[in-house]
Amino acid sequence: MLKIIKVKNYEEMSKEAAKIIAETVKARPNGVLGLATGSTPIGTYRKLIDMYESGELDFSELTTVNLDEYRGLTGENDQSYYYFMHKNLFDHVNLRKDASFLPDGSKANAQEECKRYEELVKNLGYADLQLLGIGRNGHIGFNEPSDVFEVTTHCVKLTDSTIDANKRFFESESDVPREAYTMGIGTIMHARKILVIASGVDKALAVRDSFFGPVTPKVPASILQFHQDVVVVADEAALSLSN
Ligand code: F6R
Repeated sequence: MLKIIKVKNYEEMSKEAAKIIAETVKARPNGVLGLATGSTPIGTYRKLIDMYESGELDFSELTTVNLDEYRGLTGENDQSYYYFMHKNLFDHVNLRKDASFLPDGSKANAQEECKRYEELVKNLGYADLQLLGIGRNGHIGFNEPSDVFEVTTHCVKLTDSTIDANKRFFESESDVPREAYTMGIGTIMHARKILVIASGVDKALAVRDSFFGPVTPKVPASILQFHQDVVVVADEAALSLSN
């Protein structure tokens, strides 16, 4: 079942998303939370940190798994998703140091790393709740529009436009990662609950095509229509093309 919650703006989206995550964590304090990077979840993480600081939320028994990571970056690199997660959430709450997992960008053998990560998430029993942002083209994780849905964790080649967009964060274009690891569509769909957050008019087309159009690998997030428990928290701008 797909439920859409329309909110006013980014702030309200962050509040509502944090509330839904907190409900899951309180119901299963030793469960598995699936997390995402990007600009959309930063406000949600801020709210979760506030809830931890006020004593409302406890992360001490929780395990987290992240959707994706650049291949070729170590955790010390400030462009890695490992770094992002520590800076925006992990360093500010009482998660155990050994209870947060991301694909390891420093591993040389891509095939082995994908297999290891998929097994790891599977052995944890998959996520109780997976948080997702959505790309302007409807991507989730690094699952880009394609002719097929890739099922398990895999390594993707970044498109020239992504490399070009990312180069401002690096000293030179040759430092920009060319590849990334991402959970597959199947890995994501195994989550018991999926929470999609979207804010801004930039996401309006993706939101419309993902949740109000046909299910197709050309719009990867559209597969979520087949999931039994999806909540989309989107602001008015992100819903401006959907009725
Ligand atoms: C991040 C991720 C991506 C983003 C998407 C939206 O881990 O997997 O799919 O969720 O690119 O990014 P923002 O939130 O920056 O618009």
